[in-house]
Amino acid sequence: MIDELKKKIDERNYKVAVVGLGYVGLPLAVEFAKGGFPVVGIDIDRKKTDAINSGRSYIPDISDRDLKRAQEEGGLVATTEFSRIGEVDAIIICVPTPLSKTRDPDISYIMSALSEIKKYLKRGHVVSLESTTYPGTTDELVRPTLEKSGLKAGTDFYLAFSPERIDPGNRVYTVKNTPKVVGGINKDSTEIVSYLYSRVLEKVVPVSSCKVAEMSKLLENTFRSINIALANEMAIMCNILGVDVWEVIEAAATKPFGFMKFYPGPGIGGHCIPIDPLYLSWKLRTLNYNARMIEVASEINTSMPRYVVERVADALNEHMKSVKGSKILVLGIAYKKDVNDTRESPAFDVIKLLEIKGASVEYNDPFVPRARINGHFRDSVELTGDRLKQTDCVIITTDHSVYDYEFIVKNARLVVDTKNATKGLSENLIRGKVVKL
Ligand SMILES: NC(=O)c1ccc[n+]([C@@H]2O[C@H](COP(=O)([O-])OP(=O)(O)OC[C@H]3O[C@@H](n4cnc5c(N)ncnc54)[C@H](O)[C@@H]3O)[C@@H](O)[C@H]2O)c1
Repeated sequence: MIDELKKKIDERNYKVAVVGLGYVGLPLAVEFAKGGFPVVGIDIDRKKTDAINSGRSYIPDISDRDLKRAQEEGGLVATTEFSRIGEVDAIIICVPTPLSKTRDPDISYIMSALSEIKKYLKRGHVVSLESTTYPGTTDELVRPTLEKSGLKAGTDFYLAFSPERIDPGNRVYTVKNTPKVVGGINKDSTEIVSYLYSRVLEKVVPVSSCKVAEMSKLLENTFRSINIALANEMAIMCNILGVDVWEVIEAAATKPFGFMKFYPGPGIGGHCIPIDPLYLSWKLRTLNYNARMIEVASEINTSMPRYVVERVADALNEHMKSVKGSKILVLGIAYKKDVNDTRESPAFDVIKLLEIKGASVEYNDPFVPRARINGHFRDSVELTGDRLKQTDCVIITTDHSVYDYEFIVKNARLVVDTKNATKGLSENLIRGKVVKL
């Protein structure tokens, strides 16, 4: 059967379904379509499927032109109908994997997608799970759920885990040129899933099992979380010692080996780095092991908004002001520069903590015109010289490239810069005005 499937893939007589058309699923669906595969994108959100079908992208990394090209070359159609699974050959699952209220893994989106997929599963189907999850999910949950269809994984249908590594906003590494790890439940599964991806992506890295593939993704993101926590704690320690953390990092980075730069900030955000390591520590807790480094890193990173507010209070104090009653403008509520994703963004906690202390807070973010913050919907305010002049403190929480930092510092009375975005501005301009993290 494997050779037969490979032939169909080569002839592009092979339809791919991408389930979940968000930051991960849409770029992947576009890549397959651009590679000449007919693609059916399935999402429960009709607004997204309607947008795709009318050629409108809602993901900054995908332009309307990319979408149109994908539609022309492969034939990308979007639908909310799971029954379309019956007409495809491969199913790639890219649904969310957030945390529950108690900060445990919430795999309900995977389970709900599987319960639909299972109904239409047929012989020869290839299934790849891309959603980040704890080690064991594919073997222990996905496999038995799909086998309820009466088909056997590894022989009747093929199953693998292939972590998505996309870095939204990254212009150098995209879904196409970021190597793709694939671990199947058996050799045939790894082989056919790797073959499929290798037709549209530059490099595929097959590994020996689903668990290795699942764990490799969690190692990558735990590595980032721990190193960001180290950078954040360095910022706190440098402040106590009266040293500029940014200068320290740049000096350390001149070592040509054994060091990699990570920067501090107001915390960590996004759908991955703050969450994924907790999937791993949760799994280990069920096996009576306490993943200490993950817990400590998470504690440091989630405490950063409180630290930022402390720095703001100190800075206002220097200007004979209290937080209570101050007018504060937060610049950037996306979790990182040049994206519109606000999930887990620390700016939200910074605003909430300032409001608890009695500050009046507005925000500006060119990528996020409206957002629900501290229980209320608000609009991004205009960033004008007058507004900056009338604000007691401006906090740079996201260093979007479009901001004119010189204009901001020139007009603001006080700036707390959590991202070193004001680097390079003249010392005369920033002295007495800019407080760095
Ligand atoms: N965003 C990233 O940078 C990134 C990077 C690597 C890995 N990941 C992982 O990829 C997965 C998806 O993340 P994302 O950022 O694309 O999420 P997202 O929220 O942007 O997109 C998920 C999509 O799935 C849809 N969906 C939810 N339940 C569904 C269901 N039962 N059936 C069909 N569609 C459903 C949602 O409507 C949404 O459009 C997560 O596991 C995440 O951890 C994300």
